[in-house]
Amino acid sequence: MTVSRILVTGGASGIGAAIARHWANLGHDVTITDVNDEAGRDLASSLGCTYVRLDVRNEEAWREFASGHETFDVAFLNAGVSTGDLVFGNPDTSPFTSFDLAAYRRTLGVNVDGVVFGVAHLAPAMVARGSGDIVVTASMASLYPIPPDPIYGLSKHAVSGFVKSLAPALVERGVYLSAICPFFVDTPLVPKEQQAQIRETGFDILTVDRVVEAAQMAVAERQAGAHWVIFPGAPIARHPDPTLG
Ligand SMILES: NC(=O)c1ccc[n+]([C@@H]2O[C@H](COP(=O)([O-])OP(=O)(O)OC[C@H]3O[C@@H](n4cnc5c(N)ncnc54)[C@H](O)[C@@H]3O)[C@@H](O)[C@H]2O)c1
Repeated sequence: MTVSRILVTGGASGIGAAIARHWANLGHDVTITDVNDEAGRDLASSLGCTYVRLDVRNEEAWREFASGHETFDVAFLNAGVSTGDLVFGNPDTSPFTSFDLAAYRRTLGVNVDGVVFGVAHLAPAMVARGSGDIVVTASMASLYPIPPDPIYGLSKHAVSGFVKSLAPALVERGVYLSAICPFFVDTPLVPKEQQAQIRETGFDILTVDRVVEAAQMAVAERQAGAHWVIFPGAPIARHPDPTLG
Protein backbone atom coordinates (compact mmCIF):
# COMPACT_ATOMS: atom_id res chain seq x y z
CA MET A 1 0.00 0.00 0.00
CA THR A 2 1.20 3.51 -0.78
CA VAL A 3 1.10 5.62 2.36
CA SER A 4 -0.56 8.97 1.67
CA ARG A 5 0.11 12.18 3.54
CA ILE A 6 -3.25 13.39 4.81
CA LEU A 7 -4.14 16.71 6.47
CA VAL A 8 -7.33 17.28 8.45
CA THR A 9 -8.15 20.78 9.73
CA GLY A 10 -10.50 20.92 12.70
CA GLY A 11 -9.46 17.32 13.24
CA ALA A 12 -9.76 17.26 17.03
CA SER A 13 -13.53 16.72 17.13
CA GLY A 14 -16.61 15.50 15.30
CA ILE A 15 -16.34 14.95 11.55
CA GLY A 16 -12.65 15.87 11.36
CA ALA A 17 -11.75 13.41 14.11
CA ALA A 18 -13.69 10.65 12.33
CA ILE A 19 -11.94 11.41 9.03
CA ALA A 20 -8.54 11.39 10.77
CA ARG A 21 -9.34 8.11 12.55
CA HIS A 22 -10.46 6.44 9.32
CA TRP A 23 -7.30 7.28 7.36
CA ALA A 24 -4.95 6.70 10.31
CA ASN A 25 -6.48 3.25 10.88
CA LEU A 26 -5.72 2.43 7.23
CA GLY A 27 -2.06 3.17 7.94
CA HIS A 28 -1.75 6.58 6.29
CA ASP A 29 0.39 9.44 7.55
CA VAL A 30 -2.22 11.77 9.09
CA THR A 31 -1.65 15.27 10.44
CA ILE A 32 -4.43 16.70 12.57
CA THR A 33 -4.64 20.45 13.04
CA ASP A 34 -6.98 22.36 15.33
CA VAL A 35 -7.08 25.07 18.00
CA ASN A 36 -8.26 22.63 20.67
CA ASP A 37 -4.76 21.47 21.56
CA GLU A 38 -5.69 19.09 24.34
CA ALA A 39 -8.25 17.15 22.31
CA GLY A 40 -6.04 17.27 19.21
CA ARG A 41 -2.98 15.92 21.03
CA ASP A 42 -4.98 13.20 22.79
CA LEU A 43 -6.52 12.01 19.55
CA ALA A 44 -3.23 12.15 17.66
CA SER A 45 -1.44 10.12 20.31
CA SER A 46 -4.23 7.52 20.37
CA LEU A 47 -4.03 7.19 16.56
CA GLY A 48 -0.26 7.39 16.28
CA CYS A 49 -0.43 10.47 14.11
CA THR A 50 0.76 14.08 14.34
CA TYR A 51 -0.96 17.08 15.90
CA VAL A 52 -0.10 20.67 14.98
CA ARG A 53 -1.88 23.77 16.27
CA LEU A 54 -3.20 25.78 13.33
CA ASP A 55 -5.80 28.51 13.63
CA VAL A 56 -7.22 28.37 10.10
CA ARG A 57 -8.21 32.06 10.27
CA ASN A 58 -4.56 33.08 10.42
CA GLU A 59 -3.00 33.45 6.99
CA GLU A 60 0.53 33.80 8.36
CA ALA A 61 0.09 30.60 10.36
CA TRP A 62 -0.95 28.82 7.16
CA ARG A 63 2.14 30.15 5.37
CA GLU A 64 4.43 28.81 8.13
CA PHE A 65 2.57 25.52 8.29
CA ALA A 66 2.78 24.92 4.54
CA SER A 67 6.43 25.88 4.30
CA GLY A 68 7.30 23.59 7.21
CA HIS A 69 5.58 20.49 5.83
CA GLU A 70 6.09 18.24 2.85
CA THR A 71 3.33 18.33 0.23
CA PHE A 72 0.13 16.62 1.33
CA ASP A 73 -1.57 14.10 -0.93
CA VAL A 74 -5.02 14.79 0.48
CA ALA A 75 -6.19 17.81 2.49
CA PHE A 76 -9.54 17.85 4.28
CA LEU A 77 -10.36 21.50 4.94
CA ASN A 78 -12.92 20.73 7.57
CA ALA A 79 -12.65 23.22 10.48
CA GLY A 80 -15.91 25.07 10.95
CA VAL A 81 -18.14 26.85 13.43
CA SER A 82 -21.71 28.11 13.55
CA THR A 83 -22.65 31.46 15.05
CA GLY A 84 -23.72 29.44 18.09
CA ASP A 85 -27.41 29.43 17.28
CA LEU A 86 -27.56 26.92 14.48
CA VAL A 87 -31.01 25.50 14.84
CA PHE A 88 -34.37 27.03 15.64
CA GLY A 89 -32.70 30.10 17.09
CA ASN A 90 -34.56 32.50 19.30
CA PRO A 91 -35.79 35.32 17.02
CA ASP A 92 -34.53 37.81 19.60
CA THR A 93 -30.98 36.68 18.94
CA SER A 94 -31.25 36.41 15.16
CA PRO A 95 -28.43 38.33 13.49
CA PHE A 96 -30.61 41.13 12.21
CA THR A 97 -32.42 42.00 15.40
CA SER A 98 -29.26 41.84 17.46
CA PHE A 99 -26.25 41.68 15.19
CA ASP A 100 -23.25 39.98 16.78
CA LEU A 101 -20.22 41.30 14.92
CA ALA A 102 -17.80 38.99 16.74
CA ALA A 103 -19.84 35.90 15.82
CA TYR A 104 -20.07 37.10 12.22
CA ARG A 105 -16.29 37.60 11.97
CA ARG A 106 -15.54 34.29 13.70
CA THR A 107 -17.89 32.33 11.43
CA LEU A 108 -16.61 33.83 8.19
CA GLY A 109 -13.04 33.63 9.50
CA VAL A 110 -13.13 29.92 10.22
CA ASN A 111 -15.55 28.75 7.52
CA VAL A 112 -14.44 30.96 4.61
CA ASP A 113 -10.93 32.29 5.31
CA GLY A 114 -9.98 28.88 6.70
CA VAL A 115 -10.79 27.25 3.36
CA VAL A 116 -9.44 30.00 1.10
CA PHE A 117 -6.15 30.28 3.02
CA GLY A 118 -5.84 26.51 3.13
CA VAL A 119 -6.21 26.17 -0.62
CA ALA A 120 -3.95 29.18 -1.22
CA HIS A 121 -1.11 27.65 0.80
CA LEU A 122 -1.54 23.94 0.06
CA ALA A 123 -2.47 23.92 -3.62
CA PRO A 124 0.77 25.44 -5.03
CA ALA A 125 2.87 22.46 -3.91
CA MET A 126 0.23 20.04 -5.24
CA VAL A 127 0.11 21.93 -8.54
CA ALA A 128 3.91 21.89 -8.77
CA ARG A 129 3.82 18.12 -8.30
CA GLY A 130 0.82 17.71 -10.60
CA SER A 131 -1.37 15.79 -8.15
CA GLY A 132 -3.44 16.18 -5.01
CA ASP A 133 -6.94 16.13 -3.55
CA ILE A 134 -8.59 18.86 -1.50
CA VAL A 135 -11.95 18.09 0.06
CA VAL A 136 -13.84 20.89 1.79
CA THR A 137 -16.43 20.13 4.45
CA ALA A 138 -19.23 22.35 3.18
CA SER A 139 -22.84 21.63 4.22
CA MET A 140 -26.40 21.20 3.02
CA ALA A 141 -26.39 24.88 4.03
CA SER A 142 -24.15 25.41 0.98
CA LEU A 143 -27.05 24.36 -1.24
CA TYR A 144 -30.24 25.29 0.63
CA PRO A 145 -31.29 28.11 2.99
CA ILE A 146 -30.69 27.71 6.73
CA PRO A 147 -33.00 30.39 8.17
CA PRO A 148 -31.98 29.97 11.84
CA ASP A 149 -28.35 30.85 11.06
CA PRO A 150 -28.07 33.04 7.95
CA ILE A 151 -24.44 33.87 8.65
CA TYR A 152 -23.56 30.16 8.66
CA GLY A 153 -25.57 29.83 5.43
CA LEU A 154 -23.62 32.73 3.93
CA SER A 155 -20.30 31.16 4.86
CA LYS A 156 -21.19 27.75 3.44
CA HIS A 157 -22.63 29.18 0.20
CA ALA A 158 -19.41 31.20 -0.17
CA VAL A 159 -17.29 28.09 0.18
CA SER A 160 -19.42 26.29 -2.38
CA GLY A 161 -18.95 29.12 -4.89
CA PHE A 162 -15.21 29.08 -4.26
CA VAL A 163 -14.96 25.31 -4.83
CA LYS A 164 -17.04 25.37 -8.02
CA SER A 165 -15.17 28.38 -9.40
CA LEU A 166 -11.64 27.21 -8.70
CA ALA A 167 -11.95 23.47 -9.34
CA PRO A 168 -11.80 23.64 -13.17
CA ALA A 169 -8.45 25.48 -13.11
CA LEU A 170 -6.94 23.18 -10.48
CA VAL A 171 -7.98 19.99 -12.24
CA GLU A 172 -6.02 21.09 -15.31
CA ARG A 173 -2.95 20.80 -13.06
CA GLY A 174 -3.92 17.44 -11.59
CA VAL A 175 -5.46 18.75 -8.35
CA TYR A 176 -9.03 17.71 -7.48
CA LEU A 177 -11.05 20.17 -5.39
CA SER A 178 -14.50 19.07 -4.21
CA ALA A 179 -16.94 19.46 -1.32
CA ILE A 180 -18.94 17.24 0.98
CA CYS A 181 -22.33 18.55 2.08
CA PRO A 182 -23.80 16.85 5.15
CA PHE A 183 -27.23 17.40 6.65
CA PHE A 184 -27.11 17.72 10.49
CA VAL A 185 -24.54 15.42 12.06
CA ASP A 186 -24.17 14.14 15.61
CA THR A 187 -21.19 16.27 16.67
CA PRO A 188 -20.62 18.96 19.33
CA LEU A 189 -21.47 21.59 16.69
CA VAL A 190 -25.15 20.66 17.09
CA PRO A 191 -26.06 20.43 20.79
CA LYS A 192 -28.16 17.44 21.83
CA GLU A 193 -31.29 19.53 22.55
CA GLN A 194 -31.10 20.96 19.04
CA GLN A 195 -30.67 17.45 17.63
CA ALA A 196 -33.84 16.47 19.52
CA GLN A 197 -35.70 19.42 17.95
CA ILE A 198 -34.58 18.32 14.49
CA ARG A 199 -35.75 14.75 15.14
CA GLU A 200 -39.14 16.12 16.24
CA THR A 201 -39.55 17.57 12.73
CA GLY A 202 -39.24 14.03 11.32
CA PHE A 203 -35.61 14.13 10.21
CA ASP A 204 -32.88 11.87 11.49
CA ILE A 205 -29.38 13.02 12.47
CA LEU A 206 -26.41 11.64 10.54
CA THR A 207 -23.59 9.74 12.21
CA VAL A 208 -20.03 10.86 11.47
CA ASP A 209 -19.47 7.50 9.72
CA ARG A 210 -21.79 8.54 6.89
CA VAL A 211 -19.75 11.70 6.41
CA VAL A 212 -16.53 9.67 6.34
CA GLU A 213 -18.16 7.54 3.62
CA ALA A 214 -18.72 10.71 1.58
CA ALA A 215 -15.15 11.88 2.21
CA GLN A 216 -13.92 8.51 0.90
CA MET A 217 -16.19 8.87 -2.12
CA ALA A 218 -14.89 12.39 -2.86
CA VAL A 219 -11.29 11.12 -2.87
CA ALA A 220 -12.09 7.95 -4.82
CA GLU A 221 -14.32 9.55 -7.48
CA ARG A 222 -12.09 12.62 -8.06
CA GLN A 223 -14.80 14.81 -9.63
CA ALA A 224 -13.56 18.38 -9.82
CA GLY A 225 -15.99 20.80 -8.19
CA ALA A 226 -18.38 18.02 -7.12
CA HIS A 227 -20.65 18.51 -4.10
CA TRP A 228 -21.43 15.20 -2.38
CA VAL A 229 -24.69 15.37 -0.43
CA ILE A 230 -25.18 13.25 2.68
CA PHE A 231 -28.82 13.03 3.77
CA PRO A 232 -30.31 10.63 6.35
CA GLY A 233 -31.69 7.45 4.83
CA ALA A 234 -30.50 8.28 1.30
CA PRO A 235 -27.47 7.16 -0.66
CA ILE A 236 -24.67 9.70 -0.95
CA ALA A 237 -25.29 11.58 -4.19
CA ARG A 238 -23.69 14.26 -6.25
CA HIS A 239 -25.55 17.60 -6.34
CA PRO A 240 -26.91 18.43 -8.76
CA ASP A 241 -27.18 14.97 -10.24
CA PRO A 242 -24.82 15.27 -13.25
CA THR A 243 -27.07 12.99 -15.30
CA LEU A 244 -29.82 15.64 -15.10
CA GLY A 245 -27.75 17.76 -17.42
N1 LIG B 1 -22.37 18.87 12.61
C1 LIG B 1 -23.15 19.19 11.59
O1 LIG B 1 -24.38 19.10 11.66
C2 LIG B 1 -22.54 19.68 10.31
C3 LIG B 1 -23.34 19.65 9.16
C4 LIG B 1 -22.80 20.10 7.96
C5 LIG B 1 -21.51 20.57 7.92
N2 LIG B 1 -20.77 20.59 9.07
C6 LIG B 1 -19.41 21.11 8.98
O2 LIG B 1 -18.52 20.09 9.37
C7 LIG B 1 -17.30 20.67 9.80
C8 LIG B 1 -16.87 20.02 11.10
O3 LIG B 1 -17.83 20.33 12.08
P1 LIG B 1 -18.24 19.31 13.24
O4 LIG B 1 -19.69 19.12 13.12
O5 LIG B 1 -17.34 18.14 13.25
O6 LIG B 1 -18.02 20.25 14.51
P2 LIG B 1 -17.03 20.11 15.77
O7 LIG B 1 -17.33 21.32 16.58
O8 LIG B 1 -17.17 18.77 16.37
O9 LIG B 1 -15.58 20.21 15.11
C9 LIG B 1 -15.10 21.41 14.56
C10 LIG B 1 -13.61 21.50 14.90
O10 LIG B 1 -13.11 22.72 14.31
C11 LIG B 1 -12.21 23.30 15.25
N3 LIG B 1 -12.04 24.73 15.03
C12 LIG B 1 -12.87 25.73 15.38
N4 LIG B 1 -12.30 26.93 15.10
C13 LIG B 1 -11.10 26.65 14.55
C14 LIG B 1 -10.05 27.46 14.04
N5 LIG B 1 -10.13 28.80 14.08
N6 LIG B 1 -8.93 26.85 13.53
C15 LIG B 1 -8.85 25.50 13.52
N7 LIG B 1 -9.80 24.67 13.99
C16 LIG B 1 -10.92 25.25 14.49
C17 LIG B 1 -12.85 23.01 16.60
O11 LIG B 1 -11.92 23.16 17.67
C18 LIG B 1 -13.34 21.59 16.41
O12 LIG B 1 -12.36 20.65 16.79
C19 LIG B 1 -17.57 22.17 9.90
O13 LIG B 1 -17.04 22.81 8.75
C20 LIG B 1 -19.07 22.24 9.91
O14 LIG B 1 -19.56 23.48 9.43
C21 LIG B 1 -21.25 20.14 10.25
